[in-house]
Amino acid sequence: TTTPDEGWVHPAWLPAEAWRPVGSRRVAVVGDGRDAPADTRSTQEHPVLATVRAELRAATQRWGGALVATGRGAADLDPGPDLVLVVGDGAGEAFTVDHGPALTVTADGPLGLLHGLHHVVRHGEAAFVGAPAAGLTGRHAPVQPVRMLDHWDNLEVHPVMGQVERGYAGGSIFWDDGRLRDDLARAASYARLLGSTGINAVAVNNVNVHRVEARLLTDGLDQVARLAEVFRPWGIRTYLSVSFAAPVVVGGLTTSDPLDEDVRRWWAEAADRVWARIPDFGGFVVKADSEGQPGPFAYGRDHADGANLLARAVAPHGGTVFWRAFVYDHQQDWRDRTTDRARAAHDHFTPLDGRFDDNVVVQVKQGPIDFQVREPVSPLLAAMPATRVAVELQVTQEYTGQQRHVCYLGPAWSQVLSFQPWGSPGPTVADVAAGHGPGARAAGVVAVSNVGDDPFWTGHPLAQANLYAFGRLAWDPALDPTDVLDEWIRLTFGDDPAVASTVHEVMDESWTTYEDYTAPLGIGFMVRPGGHYGPDVDGYEYTPWGTYHFADRDGIGVDRTRATGTGFTGQYPSPWRDVYESPETCPDELLLFFHHVPYTHRLRSGVTVVQHVYDTHLRGVERVEEMAQAWAELAGRVDPRVDARVRERLAEQRRSAVEWRDQLTTYFLRKSGVPDEHGRPLYP
Ligand code: GCU
Repeated sequence: TTTPDEGWVHPAWLPAEAWRPVGSRRVAVVGDGRDAPADTRSTQEHPVLATVRAELRAATQRWGGALVATGRGAADLDPGPDLVLVVGDGAGEAFTVDHGPALTVTADGPLGLLHGLHHVVRHGEAAFVGAPAAGLTGRHAPVQPVRMLDHWDNLEVHPVMGQVERGYAGGSIFWDDGRLRDDLARAASYARLLGSTGINAVAVNNVNVHRVEARLLTDGLDQVARLAEVFRPWGIRTYLSVSFAAPVVVGGLTTSDPLDEDVRRWWAEAADRVWARIPDFGGFVVKADSEGQPGPFAYGRDHADGANLLARAVAPHGGTVFWRAFVYDHQQDWRDRTTDRARAAHDHFTPLDGRFDDNVVVQVKQGPIDFQVREPVSPLLAAMPATRVAVELQVTQEYTGQQRHVCYLGPAWSQVLSFQPWGSPGPTVADVAAGHGPGARAAGVVAVSNVGDDPFWTGHPLAQANLYAFGRLAWDPALDPTDVLDEWIRLTFGDDPAVASTVHEVMDESWTTYEDYTAPLGIGFMVRPGGHYGPDVDGYEYTPWGTYHFADRDGIGVDRTRATGTGFTGQYPSPWRDVYESPETCPDELLLFFHHVPYTHRLRSGVTVVQHVYDTHLRGVERVEEMAQAWAELAGRVDPRVDARVRERLAEQRRSAVEWRDQLTTYFLRKSGVPDEHGRPLYP
């Protein structure tokens, strides 16, 4: 059958098959200080260690291996085990793999052991046979201390945004009808998937905090505690998005002024209650003075006052406040050419550098606007040396096809994380987030989740790769995103090389293909207002959102230069402030982000802007057709339910790509009057 049965859930990258190499072997867990038989379970056991043991027990039972013994004596067994997992009682996440008579994973503590086990699972049969595969042995430690997914889940269905804001995979796996679900089986499977990629933090509700969600901090706390119990066995800490106005909204105070004594006391008591209930709680995520969310501005205070208020409440408990820098004027006048939304985060936050408490992390979106398919890296990431700065990515495909289009984002994130704001050689964005930038301390990486209660988790089955890739790149930003894709393909689809190469072909360049048939050269926001799906070139042109392209009969693009434009280029350090300043040196793919140029301006690639639009849009649709043809070859070789869903999505992707192509090429033709050099029809 091609339709999933009620209750069936796709196993994502952890199908039973993925465990065969480990599950068919003799495995020992050593050094947890107990000599318990393999199948008993101590109530004192660390929950993550219990997880490792349970995973191994299930896998070995299924695949005919054995969990041979636990405790210190296991290494002396005869015949010896094939895989030995050695665990200390530390809190670290690192592990070391040695290739001897047995493959040995030595971890500082249970968290490291879970990561080490999955490291072996990912290597598959190659971990055990032949010469040690590249990257298998040696010490492995996460580059980023916090690797977090933010859920934009509402407790109830929001009249405009639905239940999951910018969610394209059904309802929430946590919440239903205003409260936590009774059945948390999906949440538990999700925690397992995340833990296997190295994710260690989850924020469980939308950054836009409505009244019912605001109560999670107070009388809804038991529900959060239940979720924390689901995540804990996978080494994942729970965070909550809170409303800055909580003292008023749920506390009954008359003010939320960060300098007010009663407000301070209220937050301190709220935090005390949270940690009393959830001792390993992570902290708060806050969207303040942004798109209508309340914040410190109402009291004449700034973001440092606001963030430090919460930081001091959570500090006694070791908590962290993730304070978002996505702050801009969403009620601007399009006639006002001096306001540039791209400048806003930097303008707001750099004057506050040095004023944030140690347990505040300023969470900065990867680009200066809003998760467009192509944007420059946010200059704010390189502008707060005395502040902990995390980078925020978007796994949910709000502007990249909404999980109806295939769009593998690993390469896009890899570019962001490896961007060198001060030029080469020099620290990368990943270094800044990890605390290796100038002056800064470690913070981490965050992304908006793409998961819902859809049987495939992500609507489009191939969008699971983005969730997987985020976890892997957060752990190690230097990984090649193409290798990560292949790893995901092998785990998800199995070892058949023909299947693997076809899935690879469909996905590998899907990000640049999406860029080809949508908004060109870094211009962005040519989407339908509100829902953000499908083309509408002028949809945002006269709105208050600050997302303009300024097309006229002569040219298009936003002049963000210091010389004649908004001065945004000046927010970058050298060399980028100069590279972006001149159309001669600005990379083609960002030209219209930084410059307003004539349609006939010649790109560094040699073609004109308008011809580039024609070429890429025609090519983009052709690529989508090739993707659909390639996928069609897989009939009968992949799970028919996956096949049916992917085909349905590819058909929609093709329809939508044609619509994008025709509207974009026609728009540019009508504005410019310049025909295609190759005389192809363009729907004028
Ligand atoms: C985008 C998105 C909103 C979201 C916001 C945010 O603007 O469209 O739905 O709330 O980002 O990041 O807070």
